[in-house]
Amino acid sequence: MGKLENKEDKTKKMKKTKKTAAKTVKVVKKAKTKTEKPAVVNENVFSQRLHKHYDELKWLYCELYQDDKQPLVHFDELMKKIKEFYIARPNYLKALDIEREQQPDWYKGNKLLGMMMYVNCFSGTLKNFEKRLPYIQESNVNYLHLMPLLSSPKGKSDGGYAVADFRSVQEDLGTMKDLENLAEKCHENGISVCLDFVMNHTSDEHEWARKARSGDKEYQDRYFFFDDYSMPELFERDCPQVFPTTAPGNFTYLSDINKFVMTTFYPYQWDLDYRNPVVFNEMVYNMLFLVNQGIDIIRLDAVPYIWKQLGTNCRNLPQVHTIVRMMRMISEIVSPAVLLLGEVVMAPDKVVPYFGTPEKPECHMLYNVTTMATTWHTVATRDTALIKHQMDILSSLPKQYIFQNYLRCHDDIGWGLDYDFLRQFGIDEAAHKKYLNDFFTGKVPGSFGIGELYNDDERLRDARLCGTTASLCGIEYYDKLKDKDGIERSIQLDLMLHAFMLSQSGIPVIYSGDEIGQYNDYSYKEDEDADKRADSRYVHRGVFNWRKAGRRKIKTAIQAKIYQNLAKMEKIRSSYDVFKADADMYTLPTWEKSTLAIVRETAQERFIGLYNFSENEQMAWINETDGLYTELLTDTKDFKAAGIKMAPYSCLWLWRKK
Ligand code: GLC
Repeated sequence: MGKLENKEDKTKKMKKTKKTAAKTVKVVKKAKTKTEKPAVVNENVFSQRLHKHYDELKWLYCELYQDDKQPLVHFDELMKKIKEFYIARPNYLKALDIEREQQPDWYKGNKLLGMMMYVNCFSGTLKNFEKRLPYIQESNVNYLHLMPLLSSPKGKSDGGYAVADFRSVQEDLGTMKDLENLAEKCHENGISVCLDFVMNHTSDEHEWARKARSGDKEYQDRYFFFDDYSMPELFERDCPQVFPTTAPGNFTYLSDINKFVMTTFYPYQWDLDYRNPVVFNEMVYNMLFLVNQGIDIIRLDAVPYIWKQLGTNCRNLPQVHTIVRMMRMISEIVSPAVLLLGEVVMAPDKVVPYFGTPEKPECHMLYNVTTMATTWHTVATRDTALIKHQMDILSSLPKQYIFQNYLRCHDDIGWGLDYDFLRQFGIDEAAHKKYLNDFFTGKVPGSFGIGELYNDDERLRDARLCGTTASLCGIEYYDKLKDKDGIERSIQLDLMLHAFMLSQSGIPVIYSGDEIGQYNDYSYKEDEDADKRADSRYVHRGVFNWRKAGRRKIKTAIQAKIYQNLAKMEKIRSSYDVFKADADMYTLPTWEKSTLAIVRETAQERFIGLYNFSENEQMAWINETDGLYTELLTDTKDFKAAGIKMAPYSCLWLWRKK
């Protein structure tokens, strides 16, 4: 490693390692020995990175913890520990750090395609996952989001989001070593790995929670403990509920110790108190431990909730941004290869601030949650006004903002739409949410969705929706009826939605199973775990059906019609520069309410994506007279982009050189 000492050597080395991350990994791994002492040059790298951020970090830390008795003692400990994590970081990851520091935009092009899955549903164990990597690669995926897999008590796990130990893996899935090995295998194959960092709370079986429960004040101070209900009552006045029916309220009474503890999510998920600097420090160490196992992307779970303050709604408070900013700087010091993905499922205006500013960035990536929900709204209304408006908003944002685009994930769809915009059409929020839910649960005449409601509380009128893409698109419904035309139409809808998602700027992420059109799984209703039975999100968290996946090669099968067409779109997306995140993007009017046209443009290429959200034939009244296009999905040359008649639920990807 001493080689990196002088600049010239460094440039040479970078040239050598630039080609692919996989190569870097292999080359550097040879040098990895357990006894290897950290070389002086590593210290330099560390010091330089530290130097860049030190003042700001110290300032923010001391400001946040100014009421603590000894903020500097905690800060100094933090500095000492992060250096230890840097030293312990495997050399192959250190090399990746340097490589990605040299190419900070490595994730912004059009080459990344994500897939998210529960390991138990997909491969059973982490070890078996390795055997499934060829399928991942065949599916063009090079970014895996492995759903929570750290130790979590059975029956009290919230799908793994109640972590009992941040340094060990759920027994059924394997060991931390297996995770490390899998991450290494992924890197060798050019695949990045994302893991949740559940930072808002711990399981009530986490060591801290146990100690707190046994009366240890030091540990009680890591959570929000109250002797009676007077404070919780005040909090409840301003703090909305996340799970109003499955886990009502924001506090849980612990009868064994006669105390109340804050539990924004399930009663067994105790909220951490980040006003305590020890909590911040310890959680940072947990995060660094995970990135040192080879995790590339840290998903900051439920991040808007991490700071609580009486008299507020306890969401998106300024201190949250301070914490995320500090985590970003710490990650840039210890593990600059790592990206932070914020899980900010909030109203549109609350999401973007989590990118921070260009000078003081926070998250590298955020979920494009508004577009996701608006897409489903458009399916139910066949009216593209809102999605067009949403695309116009997105296109006005700075290009360095990278969104993760998706149709479905492991959570419900919340109807967080731009109601200020919808109001001009006389749309009432509560009535509209009801309409959308009715549509996707098959209650509207002619609708085909087989969704299930989530947290349907009559008083709040804010029910959310669950279901897989294929089931929400009607494939399951028409399949049951053996209605061939219906199935075909629904497959078209499913593909059109994926095509739309793939042509947005950012990183597309497929929900595992969607690539083969997997249906809902109703078996959760019979599960022995009562929380699971009550949680309809499990309807779209079914075990991956490998038998059906096998049918992706049988041309006439539903699975093949989805899989093969998706694969084609994914390949096109990664081979044309116009799909890069920094291409210009804007919408065109189509003068027909069910069709949508989005343009992507670089200096050399122009692309028009056309999408028909109606089950009927519709027109897209565009008039592009400046040249002929190629329709990429059917490879039709000399296509005239004017007055286009679009088949039900169809899409066209028109492209030409400028
Ligand atoms: C996030 C997860 C969700 C979980 C919640 C509590 O929103 O996506 O599944 O229930 O956090 O950890």
